Amino acid sequence: MRTLSLLTASVRDLGLAATADQLPGLLLTPLAMRRLKRRKLAELSRDGFDAAHGTDTAGILVGRELGPCVTRAGHLVIPYETTSEAAIRLALDGLGADFSRAVFVDLGCGKGKPLMVASTYPFRRLIGVDVSPACIEVARRNVAGYGPDRIDPARVELRVQDAADFAFPDEPLVVYLYNPFPGAVLDRVVANLEASLRESPRPAAVVYVNPHALSALRRSDLFERARTIADRMPLAAEGMPRHERAAVFVAGPG
Ligand SMILES: C[S@@+](CC[C@H](N)C(=O)[O-])C[C@H]1O[C@@H](n2cnc3c(N)ncnc32)[C@H](O)[C@@H]1O
Repeated sequence: MRTLSLLTASVRDLGLAATADQLPGLLLTPLAMRRLKRRKLAELSRDGFDAAHGTDTAGILVGRELGPCVTRAGHLVIPYETTSEAAIRLALDGLGADFSRAVFVDLGCGKGKPLMVASTYPFRRLIGVDVSPACIEVARRNVAGYGPDRIDPARVELRVQDAADFAFPDEPLVVYLYNPFPGAVLDRVVANLEASLRESPRPAAVVYVNPHALSALRRSDLFERARTIADRMPLAAEGMPRHERAAVFVAGPG
């Protein structure tokens, strides 16, 4: 039943050809899954973030461990994995904005690594949204113990929610996405964000790491693509894997 919903959502969101292409990945055998997990754990532990902070962010969460494989609206839930701290910092540093009035929103926040990194910038508030209750549970534990001074709990909000249903707060925004969902969900998210910005104009930026579904942002009347540090100084991103590079979009008034 679960496999059938996964395949149906995959055909709907990615198309038949891509689903056929990814079939071995979608139907991983237990042995292949164990190997993939070991590889991802080693790969994502390399930046030493978890070792330094006693957090749990490396590895992947997929299948029953993640929870839902399809949202209530029938869209594919992309499994949890994260990036290096350096990639998150490079993307945020490139914005060169005054964050002190802004809210950092990670849609598809997983275990909360970008939220923890963003907490070291002067954002007023931090919001993490994930459709997976398992991810949010780990994110709560991670955030509660992070940093020498701990993050002020009043500054962080974590929610189990489909990002397509998220209502953006009426404050300047930095929206962070790490390849969290298929294009159909991102279309809804961008439409909600644009409606919110039209109703209440304010500065907003979308930092989209490993951007697979750019069409909604590309055709937006409100957002323009901004040059990132990696665009301006390719050496700054030297050695960074392609899937850690970000596309950044900004909307005025700046
Ligand atoms: C690639 S992970 C990124 C995690 C986190 N942003 C990071 O960089 O560490 C994608 C996350 O998006 C979540 N996700 C997928 N579809 C979602 C949806 N429709 N609404 C909210 N979260 C979703 C998954 O559960 C997963 O944790």
